[in-house]
Amino acid sequence: MKKVLLAYSGGLDTSCCVTWLKERGFKVICFIADLGQQENLNKIKVRAIKTGASKVYVKDLRQEFVKDFILPTLKADAIYEGKYLLATALGRPLIVKYLVDIAHKEKAKYVAHGCTGKGNDQVRFEGGTKTLDPKLKTIAPVKIWDLKSREEEIDYAKNKRIPIDVTKKKIYSIDKNLWGVSIECGALEDPWAEPPKSAYQWTSAPEDAPSKPEYVEIYFEKGEPKNINGKSYSLINLIKKLNDIGSKHGIGRADSIENRVIGLKSREIYEAPAGTILHLAHKELESMVLDGDTQHNKELIAIKYAKLIYAGRWFIKEKKALDKFINQTQKNITGTIRLKLYKGSCVAVGRKSKYSLYNKKLVTYSSIKGVK
Ligand code: ARG
Repeated sequence: MKKVLLAYSGGLDTSCCVTWLKERGFKVICFIADLGQQENLNKIKVRAIKTGASKVYVKDLRQEFVKDFILPTLKADAIYEGKYLLATALGRPLIVKYLVDIAHKEKAKYVAHGCTGKGNDQVRFEGGTKTLDPKLKTIAPVKIWDLKSREEEIDYAKNKRIPIDVTKKKIYSIDKNLWGVSIECGALEDPWAEPPKSAYQWTSAPEDAPSKPEYVEIYFEKGEPKNINGKSYSLINLIKKLNDIGSKHGIGRADSIENRVIGLKSREIYEAPAGTILHLAHKELESMVLDGDTQHNKELIAIKYAKLIYAGRWFIKEKKALDKFINQTQKNITGTIRLKLYKGSCVAVGRKSKYSLYNKKLVTYSSIKGVK
């Protein structure tokens, strides 16, 4: 029997994929990646089996995700088109890496994903797979079946008794991981319509956030965040903690019309509380420590780096070269940034670093004895 390794999330698309692939004579093995989406992965595993998967792999990839994917992106200050912190885009190459690994282990000749032909994720899955193993064949059921909309997929799931959570009212397509939430579809497809409150998954609306500001101090060492308010955390817990604090204050929402790789414009909303706080603090610290020219060059690299991640070109050589430049700039990015969070806004109100190039004596407009 032909074996296929399916990147499975338990959502509408991938659930329908299991049944569709089985009906076409495949033995379906599902792979569920834990990227900190804080879902009950055991429940999703059971759902995969109930839907007909013959085997399910669940892998906790959070450590690798923060260390090898989130951290380099933070050091790069990479944000796509000034708004999108790339949570989904960053998760994909890591999923692909393990999908290919497990396919090898299982001696499967096929891998499959549940992405549509309209988005970026298909490019990330297919390009990533091709780079890592050009011999593996990718099947993309959503691109070839004749279900034309999410509504039709819901009907298909009902007919085939596929367990799903989505209803025609709750039509959003949501992708979550530790670094953020990406939300598409439904009411959001009208670029004039304000996103309904219910579309946001983590953050309070700024108008409902506490009316008292909260101050947070973040300490970085060589470009890496190490502690919050003097207390050190592992990177996973540090991000979780900032997601909690940021969500409470309505930080990290973005509403964007973005340029997809395939040339379409789309309207998406995002939530990335920790990412927003960390990017801001990191850039503030860089502005204290980096000389102006390096800082400006780095801004250009940040755009390139974000574009590369967005386009699913994570495994290419150019990225390694950019990483070298970025890491070189991070040697002195050590210090503390003090932030004020208040009703959706996050601003730096204090900064200090032993490598600071800021020199009050030189810059001051007030006269200091002995300095002219
Ligand atoms: N537009 C974003 C990206 O391409 C988010 C995609 C989100 N996917 C989803 N299933 N909601 O990275």
